[in-house]
Amino acid sequence: MGEGRKDIEDRYKALKNKVQEELEKEKGDGIPTIRVTMSTCARAAGAEETQKVIEDTVASLDVTARVIPVGCLGHCYAEPLIIVEHPQTGFPPICYHSVNAGKARLIVQSYIKDADPAFEYVMGAMEDNELIPPVTTFPRFGFEERIVMAHCGRINPWDIREYIALGGYSALVKALTLEPEVIIDEVERSGLRGRGGAGFPAGRKWRLGRTQKADRKVVICNADEGDPGAYMDRTIIESNPHQLLEGIAICAYAVGADTAIIYVRAEYPLAVKTIGHAIKEAETYGFLGNNILGSDFSLSVRIFQGSGAFVCGEETALIQSIEGRRGMPQHRPPYPVERGVWGRPTIVNNVKTLSYVPSIINQGADWFRSIGTEKSPGTAIFSIVGNVKHPGLVEIAMGTTLRTLIFDICGGIANKKAFKAVQIGGPSGGCLSDAFLDTPIDFDSLTQAGAMMGSGGMVVMDEDSCMVDVARYFLDFTQKESCGKCTFCRIGTKHLLDILDRITKGEGQEEDLTILENLARDIKQGSLCGLGKTAPNPVITSLRYFFDEYVAHVREKRCPALKCRSLTAYYIDLDKCARGCEACVGSCPVEAIFTTKGRKKAIDQSKCVKCGECMTACPKEYDAVRKVSPPSLAPIIERPHEEKVKEGA
Ligand SMILES: Cc1cc2nc3c(=O)[nH]c(=O)nc-3n(C[C@H](O)[C@H](O)[C@H](O)COP(=O)(O)O)c2cc1C
Ligand code: SF4
Ligand code: SF4
Repeated sequence: MGEGRKDIEDRYKALKNKVQEELEKEKGDGIPTIRVTMSTCARAAGAEETQKVIEDTVASLDVTARVIPVGCLGHCYAEPLIIVEHPQTGFPPICYHSVNAGKARLIVQSYIKDADPAFEYVMGAMEDNELIPPVTTFPRFGFEERIVMAHCGRINPWDIREYIALGGYSALVKALTLEPEVIIDEVERSGLRGRGGAGFPAGRKWRLGRTQKADRKVVICNADEGDPGAYMDRTIIESNPHQLLEGIAICAYAVGADTAIIYVRAEYPLAVKTIGHAIKEAETYGFLGNNILGSDFSLSVRIFQGSGAFVCGEETALIQSIEGRRGMPQHRPPYPVERGVWGRPTIVNNVKTLSYVPSIINQGADWFRSIGTEKSPGTAIFSIVGNVKHPGLVEIAMGTTLRTLIFDICGGIANKKAFKAVQIGGPSGGCLSDAFLDTPIDFDSLTQAGAMMGSGGMVVMDEDSCMVDVARYFLDFTQKESCGKCTFCRIGTKHLLDILDRITKGEGQEEDLTILENLARDIKQGSLCGLGKTAPNPVITSLRYFFDEYVAHVREKRCPALKCRSLTAYYIDLDKCARGCEACVGSCPVEAIFTTKGRKKAIDQSKCVKCGECMTACPKEYDAVRKVSPPSLAPIIERPHEEKVKEGA
């Protein structure tokens, strides 16, 4: 017999008090705390070394400080980041950016030992104060509206107590005191739409799950995340795993499931480790396992490591893969919610979808609906990569425009280049031109523009990107990831890719442009799953919005962005080249650069492999190397006779 509502709440209150007392005690009397971002992105930027140097310096200076790992703050361009709290100084918690080993040593010496915050390395204060400008005044922080990422990069993902101290698992406690239907009503009323791609209403899926007559049901958390450039789900797991587990537990309680599976790709070892540790902690504290918090509700959560096939993110392929079969999408109906893994009704939701749930249960559907747009309530979480100044993870209210996201929040285009396009929705999304910069980011507006929300990958491209080549790149990905079941997807995408290859090599024919359009339409129609149905999107949108570039490639054998190797050439402007400067000669890997009769340098086009090294090597004051398209624009300069003789000798 499970405990009543009051018992569950009292049990949680006592636990929270105990945890808060423990943490207060560990904080000690004014001991400084140094939080180091240790997510995958931070590690790639050297965070492990930073952490070690901090620990070693603290030990060698004989000072006292607690060094605590945290997840990702979303500011991947500034990793490794550290947040230092030094209560005795009177300063608020301070965030430092790009903290390499040298900076780490200096900050510990200066701030921890000498109470001088080393202002030259400060990014900003983490709280409003009079002494240091807070990070919230920067557009990168200020424009964001965080729900799922509110605690990312601030709490220790390896210590459940930090989550509990902030009220973590209180939504599960509340849920356990409610009837499952009431929870489903609330999620449905919130308008939460699935963040895995299709935007299906989560409440409706849960209700369908609840009404299935079955002894056993399963919840699957989809953390496959295979889109190139996307890493939101990995980061959320690495930064706040308990929020996700709480969402999973609430979902399982609402639909009547006793088993949950987190399907996470094996290429995410840190995420696998973090969530594995979190499951054990949650079991120890009674939030997972048998008779959760003394109630009748039990839930076993396990991890399934996927082998990295993009198509296994598709829910029916994912289920096949869990069952030990080859991951191939299946015909629907029956939908997983009717008949899923091991024949049981299965509710599949994305990491982000489930991570919103605790906030919705605690703060209510109306609060969630007050953020975002009517048809896309809440926030959108993107990993923004490519040619922006401040790439990383961003959480914004739905309805924010692409312009605000790219220019105000992410700082605009890097290296003083112009904006060219943005690819939204992963390899199956679309490439949008600058005409769409004022498009609001929500499910329907993006679909209308020809792109899609997808799971949140966004690649921003500058003027140097060739849109034909970009379409070829994404198609190359989806073509390789096709499971091969449908002829149109298997062979059609190969034909599309061959045509794009030809075009980028300057071998495209006029009729290729029509074939591309027709084939793209047929592949969409003739494919079973979302992979094939959306694979032609980059081709369709680039044809629609960047048709001039296709025409230039096909008719003029010219790549306007100077990207496609076969359609470009390098030459040296003799008027600019300085006599006696040999900078380019040494940089050329194939000895294509020779000395002209006038003792300047020139490029032997028959030898040049178009690596561009000479352009980089040529000193700025001469700036003599040019890149042109079509290649016929490069002047042909004959090697002097003695050079030819030397070469032949
Ligand atoms: C090729 C393909 C790959 C997909 N990959 C993912 C993925 O990595 N993560 C994800 O949550 N959904 C992915 N989906 C969508 C899932 O099939 C499913 O709709 C989603 O997990 C449902 O969760 P949601 O309702 O919370 O969005 C993919 C779909 C397709 C067609
Ligand atoms: S559309 Fe492509 S990936 Fe999807 S089932 Fe068919 S062949 Fe496989
Ligand atoms: S582009 Fe590369 S291969 Fe060609 S001349 Fe310059 S350095 Fe040599």
